[in-house]
Order: sequence, then C-alpha cells, then structure tokens
Amino acid sequence: MGYFNEALSEKIVNGRIGNSVDSRVREIAESLVRHLHAFAKDVSLTQQEWEYAIDYLTRTGQICSNERQEFILLSDVLGFSMLVDALSNRLPPGATESTVFGPFYVANAPIREMGDNISLDGKGEACLFSGRILDTAGCPVVGACVDVWSDNADGFYDVQQPDIQPKWNNRGRFITASDGIYRFRGIKPVSYPIPDDGPVGQLLESLGRHPYRPAHMHYMITAPGYRRLVTHTFVSGDDYLDSDTVFGVKESLISRYKKVSRDGVIWHSEFDFILAREGE
Ligand code: BEZ
Ligand code: FE
Repeated sequence: MGYFNEALSEKIVNGRIGNSVDSRVREIAESLVRHLHAFAKDVSLTQQEWEYAIDYLTRTGQICSNERQEFILLSDVLGFSMLVDALSNRLPPGATESTVFGPFYVANAPIREMGDNISLDGKGEACLFSGRILDTAGCPVVGACVDVWSDNADGFYDVQQPDIQPKWNNRGRFITASDGIYRFRGIKPVSYPIPDDGPVGQLLESLGRHPYRPAHMHYMITAPGYRRLVTHTFVSGDDYLDSDTVFGVKESLISRYKKVSRDGVIWHSEFDFILAREGE
C-alpha cells in the first residue's frame, strides 16, 4: 500500500487489518475508518478542531461515574440512540413501537399489586394508568412483567435526588394475570431537562438547542416467549412533543390524559401495549 497519504488514507489504514480478523469486526472497523476519513475530508478538519474534539471527548469521559453516563447522553442528543433502536427493533405490524431506554432505569424495582400507588413523595397530580398487554393477535399476555418509572412532580428521578426522594419513588413492577390487564397509580409526568451541566449541555447550547424532554411514563415489558419492549407513553399536548431533545417521540406513543377527578385521582391514561413474539 505504501506510506500514508491524503488521497488513499482510508485504504492504507484499512489495508493493515489482519487476515484472520473476525468478519463482523472487520466490517465495522473498515466502515468506521471509511466514514471518519470522509468526514474529516468533507469539512477539511483543522488541527485546532481536532484538538477541541479530543478535549471534548476527554471531558465527556471524565464526567462519567456510576450515576452518570455522559457518552449515552451524547449518543441520545445526536439521535444515534434512536437510530440504533430503530435498526434493532423492526417489529411486525400492530406491535407497539419502542423508544429510547434512557439512563434512569433501575433494575429490580419492587413488585407491586395491581392498582398500587408508585408515587411515594406525595407530590404531583394523581393519575391512573391502565390498559392491557396483548399479543399481535389481540390475545391477553399472562405473566407479563410491566416495569414502570417516571420523574416526580419536580422533574427529577429518584436516583437523581437520593437524599430528597424516597427510594423507589415512581417505580414499580406489575405482573399481569390471565386477563392481561395492568393498572397502577402514579402522577401525571412532567417535562424535564436532561442533565445539561456537562459537555452534552455545552453541545446543546452551542447548537441553539434546548435540553427538554416531553413528559412521559417509561415502560419495560417482558414476558416469556415475547420480545422485550422498551418504550414510553407521552402526555398529549406537551409543549416539547415536537422537539424532544433525544428524538424519542413517536406518534403512536402519545397518550390522551383524560381528566377524571374520581377516587382521589385527577387524570387517567389508558394505553394497550402489543408485544411481538420472539422471531415474529
Ligand atoms: C429519560 O427519558 O429518562 C432520558 C432519556 C434519554 C436521555 C436522558 C433521559
Ligand atoms: Fe425519562
């Protein structure tokens, strides 16, 4: 291949990959180098800009901790997480669409009884969430685990405020019976800014973008024999539906919140989830 030169840069770098390298590793590495070199040539990247990028990525890594994953946040605001989600979740017609997982999931939330209240801090407007877990033929899914989480009325998840909010505030798991019905109380979620005091916040600022997500309830639904569904329902009418900073909104996931004012509950969000079978 000869020594490095601008015109053949990509071919020269990829030409060094060994013969016995795993074919998927080769495919990914070659494509990455191809696009990275094309990108630098496209914008005629300067040395100074390269140094800025290295410093930016260094700061992104340095702010990461067990509680904070700035690289995922970066992927989210670049629409990359939603793209990977779309590529990985091509579902059969009728199945409920997926959306971004987000950084605030906590495994092993308490298993609660149907109808229980997940809001433990007494804040916010009480809301009933209910619906059915169905398969694509419309039959109820028995034994589905409906794992839910949301922010509190101040726009923070419990893990963001461990000294302020009760542990497991606005979280819980519900297991469906033979009717496939789920039912729980919580609060009407509110829109909130993603953590914007680090490199991702600086990027949003420099691009003239806001850091807000429209109000949503998170769901992860699993059942034996079915594909795991990671999704949200969004609150209809929210100001940020058209400009979610992580591009998570899908029309089919917008839920109408009905005002009911009954049994201490102010709102009702009814939503059926349709699971795809494994291999479907
Ligand atoms: C969330 O909805 O919890 C979330 C998703 C992506 C980035 C930040 C937060
Ligand atoms: Fe969220």
